Amino acid sequence: MTKSAIIGLGNMGKGLARRLDGKTDLILGTRDITGGENFAATLSQGLRVTSPQDAAAAADIVILALPYAAALAFAKSTNLEGKVVVDLTNPLKEDFSGLTIGHSTSAAEEIQAVAPGARVVKAYNTIFASLLDRPASDTSATPVFLAGDDEAAIASVTRLVELSGFTTELAGGLNAARLVEPLGMLNIQLGYHQGRGTAIAPAWQAL
Ligand SMILES: NC(=O)c1ccc[n+]([C@@H]2O[C@H](COP(=O)([O-])OP(=O)(O)OC[C@H]3O[C@@H](n4cnc5c(N)ncnc54)[C@H](OP(=O)(O)O)[C@@H]3O)[C@@H](O)[C@H]2O)c1
Repeated sequence: MTKSAIIGLGNMGKGLARRLDGKTDLILGTRDITGGENFAATLSQGLRVTSPQDAAAAADIVILALPYAAALAFAKSTNLEGKVVVDLTNPLKEDFSGLTIGHSTSAAEEIQAVAPGARVVKAYNTIFASLLDRPASDTSATPVFLAGDDEAAIASVTRLVELSGFTTELAGGLNAARLVEPLGMLNIQLGYHQGRGTAIAPAWQAL
């Protein structure tokens, strides 16, 4: 069975682990092994918790549930050759007022550039962590926007997204992350700065 590593047990990492618990083979990578084991004890699977590097080495799919700068540093310092790497980062300014990069590149492309052998797929960056705490039936029609250059990697991540209780909307090749990341920023703008809250997500409407 395909093994997926979740790297970083913050809001997104824990939320995805809860959504994927019992649905696929998972390994958790964290800098805080004791905290990770306490969290894993709340899940049904009896998951292995190890360092971020060991979790990535053991997995076919590596989910970087890290702040952008940490995701970039991890991708640069870890052998991700041949692995499907899921980038869910929004490269945010510290005050959440905008993105630090865009237009001519994206977080996903920067991660790909430092890990050229990885097969990077953008996903989940428009999904607020609070949605992961809702029943999967609430989000089954909510799209996770995907961007990636490797068809097999896109197929793997599509399956993962469906197992996690969402549907997918393919935005295009990896450079479409330049479009998807500002969409994540718009979601943050609406959710936090326009007062809509975090029980929202963008979706495309066919009329
Ligand atoms: N929160 C959301 O609603 C949301 C929605 C969409 C996308 N995102 C994106 O998803 C990523 C993770 O967001 P999050 O809300 O889960 O963040 P978070 O709660 O702050 O968790 C990030 C985790 O990354 C790990 N980490 C490794 N190096 C780190 C470093 N230098 N500084 C801080 N943390 C480090 C930590 O896990 P360990 O201690 O276990 O190693 C930490 O718990 C971000 O890129 C964010 O832009 C977030």
